[in-house]
Amino acid sequence: MANDIGPIGVFDSGYGGLTILRQIRSLMPQYDFLYLGDNARAPYGERSFEVVYEFTRQAVRYLFQQGCHLIILACNTASAKALRTIQQVDLKKIDPKRRVLGVIRPTVEVVGSLSKTRHVGIMATDGTIRSKTYELEIAKQSPDIKVTGEACPMWVPLVENDEYDSPGADYFVRERIESLLSRDPLIDNVILGCTHYPLLLGKIQKFMPEGVNIIEQGGYVAQSLKDYLSRHPEIEERVTKGGSVRLLTTERAELFQEKATIFMGEALNAERVQL
Ligand code: DGL
Repeated sequence: MANDIGPIGVFDSGYGGLTILRQIRSLMPQYDFLYLGDNARAPYGERSFEVVYEFTRQAVRYLFQQGCHLIILACNTASAKALRTIQQVDLKKIDPKRRVLGVIRPTVEVVGSLSKTRHVGIMATDGTIRSKTYELEIAKQSPDIKVTGEACPMWVPLVENDEYDSPGADYFVRERIESLLSRDPLIDNVILGCTHYPLLLGKIQKFMPEGVNIIEQGGYVAQSLKDYLSRHPEIEERVTKGGSVRLLTTERAELFQEKATIFMGEALNAERVQL
């Protein structure tokens, strides 16, 4: 790991992290980005703590080897289950000067100022909900907020299998929203706590009652990264500034390239890699 300068690494289990990359890139187009989607092993949502941690650690090591000094885990499941151990244990061994950041903290920071009823819902993968990370982080910032989590196990497979626009997806989106709001009808803000979910936004908006605000993470994560880089010039100077995006996937490159090009709105190449 000799490079002392490289792109910002962005990691997700699959396509979801592109929703974060798109926002980061629109706010900070000057930087180089290296995106890694572990599509071959997605979804991560129902996997155990140990497996999510191991897969995420492999991805982080790989991105470090490619020259990244700063990595964003653009995946709530990995942020919930692996980030802390990677920050506290692995970074010390690998290279204490490198940084790995997640997506949960920047999202949670805005909830206190948005909710009037002080009742907030989280829609996320089973792993994220079970970890209770959102509850714990919100309690630190806004202890008066009541948090209700709803696991949506079908939503990531709908995105990974290209079914997010299909009429069949309506059923799965609607039933989870109804379930969440029946458990706490006072909810006035719902966090989409999975980076895949913005790809289902059209359907989520269709079934979310008026008056319930949908919180998407991308913009908040991008702003928080910008603030972080301005507070940490020692990290910022280790990021290359060529305005490029390189995409890596552990599954079929052509498929990834096709979807990413549509989603990011620019022609992009993808390469297949093995972790
Ligand atoms: N996009 C990820 C998240 O934000 C993971 C989804 C999955 O692989 O289940 O949680």
